[in-house]
Amino acid sequence: MAPAEDRDLGHEFDPRFRVISVTARGAPLRTLPSMNAPIKNDRIEWLQGPSADGAAKCSSIPAGRKNPWRLVLLGAPGVGKGTQAELLTERLGACHLSTGDVFRAASKRKDCDQSPAMVAALDYMRRGELVPDSTVWEMVRERSHCILGCGGFILDGFPRTLGQAESLKELMETESIALSAVVNYELPLDEIVERLSGRRTCEQCKAVFHVTERPSKGGAICDRCGGRLYQREDDRPESITVRLEAYERSTAPLIQFYRNLGVLTPVVAKGTPDEILGRTMKGLDRANDRVKTA
Ligand code: AP5
Repeated sequence: MAPAEDRDLGHEFDPRFRVISVTARGAPLRTLPSMNAPIKNDRIEWLQGPSADGAAKCSSIPAGRKNPWRLVLLGAPGVGKGTQAELLTERLGACHLSTGDVFRAASKRKDCDQSPAMVAALDYMRRGELVPDSTVWEMVRERSHCILGCGGFILDGFPRTLGQAESLKELMETESIALSAVVNYELPLDEIVERLSGRRTCEQCKAVFHVTERPSKGGAICDRCGGRLYQREDDRPESITVRLEAYERSTAPLIQFYRNLGVLTPVVAKGTPDEILGRTMKGLDRANDRVKTA
């Protein structure tokens, strides 16, 4: 039998659908079964939200599947959720939905395009604090079709508080859909700080590098698109401390919340991204077996 990470875990796989997200952060894995002809998924409806003229339309959306993957990725800032979300998107064909990416996309818009709530949210983000639940939920609620779509999702950075988790649960219950699993990535604090402080992001294509662990061959220039690499404002030492405190205070309690719901899948986040992906797929395999025998 093929290893767990090379199977589709009982979820229906549609070979016509392949995804590369605009924030692709690593070299594609050669072992991935769904990688030969990338179809672009720019996630524009998630990143931009609804507009009056309905102009924002994803260039491809996941094909409907019988049992789409609906995942939440939990873990401290910098543990590698975004990196894994990219790899899981390629493997599982569900949309990568990151609330942090929505805020960063909004920060690039002209000032006059930003609502007062968004301007305030970006201030919270720069300081490393959590954006208030009401703003986050408003933003997610108006994009709820991305969550309720029949291709599935990989939520990265949401929910982050018990209030947000309750709101997500209610939304999904109204549509009679359930989470497949909540993956909790675990890594010692010193390694988390090292990952955060060494992160560099391409200002053009949003690819993510690390100065020592995953350096760009072009140094301060992105070796994918030639864009300039920059350090995120909230990756500076003073913001990192605030973010880690906010995680401990507000997000860590979600681990017990999801454990109580029977959907928590812990994954050790040490090693290379490929190794962590392999562990994640094995964890999802077990979660899938649990659902089948329940
Ligand atoms: P968000 O963008 O969600 O940031 P985060 O959760 O802090 O997560 P990060 O993006 O910092 O890290 P990551 O775990 O994705 O790690 P990555 O893969 O990049 O949120 C930003 C802000 O927005 C928040 O602080 C808040 O203000 C606001 N916000 C967003 N959502 C909110 C919500 N729901 N409620 C309230 N506020 C909200 O990896 C990190 C580095 O490590 C990279 O350099 C990478 O190359 C490297 N790396 C990854 N994997 C490995 C590996 N295996 N080995 C070595 N290096 C690795």
